[in-house]
Amino acid sequence: MTLDMFEQEGVNAGQYELYGQDIHIIRGLALPYVDGIMHALTKQIKPQSPLRQMTTPSGYSMSVAMTNCGQRGWVTSRSGYYYADVDPLTHQHWPDMPAIFISLAQAAANKASFVNFKPDSCLINEYQAGSKMSLHQDKDEVDLSAPIVSVSLGISATFLLGGFKRQDKTMRIALHHGDVMVWGRSDRLRFHGILPIKAAFHAVTEDCRMNLTFRKAL
Ligand code: SIN
Ligand code: FE2
Repeated sequence: MTLDMFEQEGVNAGQYELYGQDIHIIRGLALPYVDGIMHALTKQIKPQSPLRQMTTPSGYSMSVAMTNCGQRGWVTSRSGYYYADVDPLTHQHWPDMPAIFISLAQAAANKASFVNFKPDSCLINEYQAGSKMSLHQDKDEVDLSAPIVSVSLGISATFLLGGFKRQDKTMRIALHHGDVMVWGRSDRLRFHGILPIKAAFHAVTEDCRMNLTFRKAL
């Protein structure tokens, strides 16, 4: 457990930062939603569609455990990356997207002037110490005019923001509990990733970081 974690989180709540043309961070925007989000995750979403480590098309097991809620969910398997209407683990529809998730995603999108954002998919990522997300683009969505809204919960992470080519220089942005990032338009296809998470403890998520990524897949 680190003391700086507690010092960073909440202190800058409400602070707004802009990166590139259209990458917006609103610090602490999710804080008032945290209890409701955690309740829905624990009582509704995880029991219905458990977190699982998916396999990449090249056969690696992802270090991040994932599940989804909403009409469709992003999955990866030996056959590729795709959006599935049915959870391949349970063969049932994904859990409904809780109203509080939609409210937060829309409030965040509005703050970044993306009006009428209607997410149909929320990917839920759980990072343990050492988990990481390699540089990638989010490009499996049909409608690239919709933004991506990404919510950080629990222990902090370092987000890598790259350019439009994998080898472009990256910048590092610290993301803390409650921070929300919204990006789209000319920055929609930037490469991005998460550095390996450092071991820490957070009162809300204990030894992990959670990330909710809202998208319009279709
Ligand atoms: C992702 O890009 O899929 C996840 C980003 C994050 O965990 O903040
Ligand atoms: Fe992504």
